[in-house]
Amino acid sequence: MGIQKTVLSVVGNPRPGSRTHALAATLSRAIAEQIGGVVAEPIDLAAHGPRVLDYEDHQLASEAKRLLQADVLVVASPTYKATYSGLLKAFLDRIGGGALDGTPAVPVLLGGASDHRLAVDVHFTPLLLELGASLPARGLFVLESELDGFEATARSWARTAFGTAT
Ligand SMILES: Cc1cc2nc3c(=O)[nH]c(=O)nc-3n(C[C@H](O)[C@H](O)[C@H](O)COP(=O)(O)O)c2cc1C
Repeated sequence: MGIQKTVLSVVGNPRPGSRTHALAATLSRAIAEQIGGVVAEPIDLAAHGPRVLDYEDHQLASEAKRLLQADVLVVASPTYKATYSGLLKAFLDRIGGGALDGTPAVPVLLGGASDHRLAVDVHFTPLLLELGASLPARGLFVLESELDGFEATARSWARTAFGTAT
């Protein structure tokens, strides 16, 4: 048996203990189950706050390194102004264009307004592609009102996105 793949989530909510964090954790578990991998300790940017902007900060540097080493990424943000949060962007600005080098990544937005559903594909996906990620499927936009029962949604989404036809 080879080494198990790691599924790492990055949570771009400035508030700790967010629903975005819980959503990312549920999706990461579903993906890990699907690929027989393990869920890594999430990078929750709320724990770092303004230090995200400090390029001398060792903890942030090591979090950015973990991001580059993960096998699968779940990149989650609340929908802010019809895009992702500035906090998430500030963190991702630490890594170079193309640096994700084909790592499968899943963009996830939690939002309150259904007319922002396309924000994940229109605004979030291009950011991950610029960083060199490969997207196994379209991103996920989850309405606050869809959070109940998200576990089942996540499982079926993970089957579609990461399932193999064997
Ligand atoms: C500054 C700010 C801007 C927001 N802008 C949007 C928006 O443009 N579209 C939307 O659907 N929801 C928007 N929301 C609502 C959040 O995306 C929504 O409440 C989300 O579920 C919050 O996730 P959380 O519970 O993890 O904080 C905004 C919330 C805040 C605080």
